[in-house]
Amino acid sequence: MPVSPVMSIVNTLAAEIQSGKLPPGAALPTHRQLAAQYGVAVASASKVYAHLGALGWVVGETGRGTFVRDRPGQREWDSADEARLSADTLDLSFNHPTWPGQAELLRNTLRELAASGDLAALMHQQPPGGRRHERQVVADFLLAERGVHVDAEQVFLVNGSQQGLDMTVRALLRPHDTVAVDALTYPGFKMVAGVQGLTMKPVPYSDDGPDLGALDALCGRERVRAIYAMPAMHNPLGWVLTARQRQRMVSIARCHDCLLIEDASYAFLAGRTAPALITLAPERTIYVSSLSKSVASGLRFGFAVVPKTHAGRIKSVIRASYWSLPSVMTAMATRWVAAGVVAEREKAQRADARRRQKIAQDVLAGMEFMAHPNSLFLWLPLPQDLRMDRIATALAEHGIAVSKAEAYATTRHAPHALRLGLSSVPADLLATALLRVRHTVEQFPI
Ligand SMILES: Cc1ncc(COP(=O)(O)O)c(C=O)c1O
Repeated sequence: MPVSPVMSIVNTLAAEIQSGKLPPGAALPTHRQLAAQYGVAVASASKVYAHLGALGWVVGETGRGTFVRDRPGQREWDSADEARLSADTLDLSFNHPTWPGQAELLRNTLRELAASGDLAALMHQQPPGGRRHERQVVADFLLAERGVHVDAEQVFLVNGSQQGLDMTVRALLRPHDTVAVDALTYPGFKMVAGVQGLTMKPVPYSDDGPDLGALDALCGRERVRAIYAMPAMHNPLGWVLTARQRQRMVSIARCHDCLLIEDASYAFLAGRTAPALITLAPERTIYVSSLSKSVASGLRFGFAVVPKTHAGRIKSVIRASYWSLPSVMTAMATRWVAAGVVAEREKAQRADARRRQKIAQDVLAGMEFMAHPNSLFLWLPLPQDLRMDRIATALAEHGIAVSKAEAYATTRHAPHALRLGLSSVPADLLATALLRVRHTVEQFPI
């Protein structure tokens, strides 16, 4: 079949981007220049860029031009990574918030920083855990937005929640220590536990949270050094524990002298909830959170809040590993925290999550799945005879990435289920992507 002039140019440019001849971030000719270069009308040049944009190869920025999109290709991710981000994949596997104005915020803040008073300060080494005034900004934010009252010296700035978890385990636990985890839990914590040689003991769950009787029994049977929990917006199941459930968990931790590792990475989506574990048990709780799910996952800005008695150990681990976060990054992120940008983003993300959950409810109506109305993901158990790997492979062939239950399972056998992340796919493509999931599940193996 003959290829139209527009598609022929699209194919040429796509091939040049794929081969690396046009590298990420490269500025492309203006519409007029492209038209002249290929001898086509300006309107055709515009169609070329629109098409490349829809395929995910380029981005246009009003007033600045068109650029090769700078995103890691599929081959740049380890196969063990959940994220499979080839440019044209509809990514339901990972939650990367993208929102209008994201690039503008970064650009404006970089400009502001460049014009700010003591810029040279950002070239200096920071103390481990961050500079005092920046830790204070986070402490103020936690009080205002999450009702968590802590002192600045308990706050350690970290490279995302993931590093907060890793650092906590390195500083406060030893290889072969036992940690209680939900039977389905955040894969990144499984990785930390695996690398640090911890023994994970799964706690069964029901729709509204972990089986706390089983947790108590486990802690009674053997020495459990820590409990890893996501009391507000559990990933992947979306539960938000009630005040009673939290009180009970704290009593269990106190009775058996366990540390509580409270992962609050998605807690902002739940809005105001019952008090955080760190509020109920400040003497034994490490509270970890970040801006990855509200502002941008590539920022790598997070915070771990630790009891004062453990601060020295945490500081040593920070000093022994990364020493401090890059000053430029903490300066930007804490500006956004202090100026209310993060609180605004969190609110906007909650509203966006509700919209996206509504789309999911409509498209998947009649199918059984678990999700909180504000969560950015949902848990889709598969019918008995369907295997998750075959469904995931079939979806990958249709350009849709999903996460399989085995990444989340801490039991020997994982249930056959998928976790669908809802925030990375552009809102106007979400229904299409979910419909494809629905058809694939319903029609498999057709
Ligand atoms: C529950 C949970 N904890 C921690 C993380 C890691 O977040 P960060 O990007 O801040 O390291 C994630 C990321 O997906 C998560 O879902």
